[in-house]
Amino acid sequence: MKQIRTQVGIIGAGPAGLTLAHWLKQQGIESVIIEHRSRDYVQARVRAGLLEQNTVDILKDLGLADRLVREGHAHHGVYLSFDGERIRVPFDTYTGGRHITIYGQQEVVKDLTDAWLAGGNTLLFEAPARQIADYDTKQPKIYFEHEGEEGVVTCDFVAACDGFHGIGRKTMPKNSYNEYSITYPFSWLGILANVAPSSEELIYAYHERGFALHSLRSSTVSRLYIQVENEDHIDNWTDDQIWEELSVRLGTPGWQLHSGPIFEKSITPMRSYLIDNMQIGRLFLAGDAAHIVPPTGGKGLNLAIADVKHLVDGFVEYYRQHSYRGLEHYTQTALRRIWRAQDFSNFMTTLFHKQDDHGSFQYRLQRAKFDYIRMSDAYAATIAENYVGLPFDALTRFP
Ligand code: FAD
Ligand code: DHB
Repeated sequence: MKQIRTQVGIIGAGPAGLTLAHWLKQQGIESVIIEHRSRDYVQARVRAGLLEQNTVDILKDLGLADRLVREGHAHHGVYLSFDGERIRVPFDTYTGGRHITIYGQQEVVKDLTDAWLAGGNTLLFEAPARQIADYDTKQPKIYFEHEGEEGVVTCDFVAACDGFHGIGRKTMPKNSYNEYSITYPFSWLGILANVAPSSEELIYAYHERGFALHSLRSSTVSRLYIQVENEDHIDNWTDDQIWEELSVRLGTPGWQLHSGPIFEKSITPMRSYLIDNMQIGRLFLAGDAAHIVPPTGGKGLNLAIADVKHLVDGFVEYYRQHSYRGLEHYTQTALRRIWRAQDFSNFMTTLFHKQDDHGSFQYRLQRAKFDYIRMSDAYAATIAENYVGLPFDALTRFP
């Protein structure tokens, strides 16, 4: 049996696991990563694209943002559209200069993986973790498979950064947490297309035919989404139909959507989910392993990185000062931002998705909210500060 000994055993080479490994290394703490999928699979997985200021600052501090700074797009505002009427929420006015950056999640994963391996560190691909054992002792273990052989990582702590379907959460005793969830009656059909973006900033749109989002990846690649029904299938949509729908839903007088060849399309269901305890003994969960937000507002990846920050703070306190205090309070500290992001993601989702007929009470509430953004600086500021992401000290300041 392959035997590995380390300080922190990390399951999952997504944004959470990779960032945790780099950050621990910077602080002189050793770790290894065990990843179920192949390197090609992980680096080709198309997901998020919106990085908050906090996330970019962390990657810069870790010396992992060279390409991100070169190729990412800084955005200082966002367009919101309702029934064809479009307004802009400027971040600089409301957040003292904080902004977001558009850079694909798979690019972040690629940069972090390349740097980790180039540094001679351990990351095993195609190595599914099968069991987490002894988390209630000082020597927890991760049993895994790799190249037809069984292996075990023996460590001081296990960090389960293994996403929504991983084994971290399944290992937590059912009576150690409460579960909260909402399943939405709609999904997102997302595309990547070889066409220059039709807008220099993102557009979130409510339309009577459903939600649409215009985003981008570069000056030649656009990323767009439309609301579809949960039962819908990607084969039901021709490329022309997708462009037609996007054009109608995002449309506003004097503006035109440019179409081009679509090279990636998929449908993602939407859910809000969390468990209110992210640790047991020496096992800690971070990122999608513990929570999912609906993608409207782009919080999922950023929340995963924020969990990692709190976890690193706890590990550093443990190894430097032999104090368990930070780790003991990990869940409590992380949950403040998680609930904030749950609220904002739910707010953006219910504001911009079609849920009921035009003219219904629900529709009127959505319309009233949109009108309020236009009339109130306070309301627009609330949206701006949540969208760019609250600074870490804003959420840890209160007792
Ligand atoms: P993940 O990225 O899921 O990484 C977990 C890793 O663990 C994976 O590589 C997985 O292979 C590995 N793993 C799982 N089980 C095991 C095991 N047993 N052993 C070893 N390894 C294991 N967020 C946004 O903000 N905007 C978006 O547009 C957006 N779109 C999304 C689209 C899709 C289809 C999905 C699934 C998510 C999307 N998200 C989006 C959410 C965002 O991508 C996630 O929040 C982010 O990936 C969380 O990072 P993570 O590291 O916690 O988990
Ligand atoms: C993107 C995804 C989101 O969910 C979002 O709110 C903004 C941008 C994107 O993939 O670019």
